[in-house]
Amino acid sequence: MTTILTIANQKGGVGKTTTALTLAHGLARRGKRTLLLDFDPQGQAARALHLSPSAGIYALITMDTGPNETAYIQSKIIETERENLWLLPGNKQTADAQAMINSQGKPISWVREALERFCTSQYHYLVLDTAPSLGGIQERVLWASDMVIVPTPAEALGSDGLRQVLDTMKRLSAEKGWKGGLFGVLPTFFMEQVKEHRINLDAMRVNLGELVLPPIHRAVVLAECPAFGKTIFEHAPDSRAAEEYARLVDIVLKA
Ligand SMILES: Nc1ncnc2c1ncn2[C@@H]1O[C@H](COP(=O)(O)OP(=O)(O)OP(=O)(O)O)[C@@H](O)[C@H]1O
Ligand SMILES: [Mg+2]
Repeated sequence: MTTILTIANQKGGVGKTTTALTLAHGLARRGKRTLLLDFDPQGQAARALHLSPSAGIYALITMDTGPNETAYIQSKIIETERENLWLLPGNKQTADAQAMINSQGKPISWVREALERFCTSQYHYLVLDTAPSLGGIQERVLWASDMVIVPTPAEALGSDGLRQVLDTMKRLSAEKGWKGGLFGVLPTFFMEQVKEHRINLDAMRVNLGELVLPPIHRAVVLAECPAFGKTIFEHAPDSRAAEEYARLVDIVLKA
């Protein structure tokens, strides 16, 4: 069975792409065939690996589900030169596709149906990186997911932004028959010496319990990764950041 795992938060710069890419590579390293899909028109997932953004997601969400279309979309998948890890990139055209399906009033299940073609024995995991926005295509992407991780900077735990994305998910379950759910809030850019971070994390744990995942500390080595086109497991395998993301991979694998 293929698991669709989405990384989402409508706020920018919270660690979505870092988490999507690192998690995807972490799963691949554990022998899981993983396809990373970049639903953000910024195309950062490809750039972070020094690969070229292209209109893969545009093709995925504008084309029919027939075999010819699937073959074309598959031709857009890039080998990442890493065992078990493939990428379906996006680029600016993703935004055109989003506008198109919004104006055509496509159903909430639209993205899920487009992804079904990859839900075969070919892949264990589809990991979806998303744009910093809510509404429109974003809701269709959430609806397509079996589980969602919401990276949130430690200072924004308990913020309106986080509440909004959690509320959106609740509404999708209650009103739109979404079968997936929140896998967890992932505190990012955590610094334990900052009192506010500790207070926020404790308060979040009181509210959400086990849905608060172990935090990822702020780490220079993580910020360096895109410049080298590497993931943390390649750039600084012995770092605390690599250890923390490896632990997240373990938690996902146990789910
Ligand atoms: N734990 C961390 N410590 C330090 N830097 C980090 C950490 N996580 C991510 N970064 C860096 O912070 C920046 C923003 O991270 P990232 O691109 O993952 O966020 P994003 O949520 O995908 O942003 P956007 O909303 O623009 O897509 C990047 O330069 C990234 O390398
Ligand atoms: Mg991003």
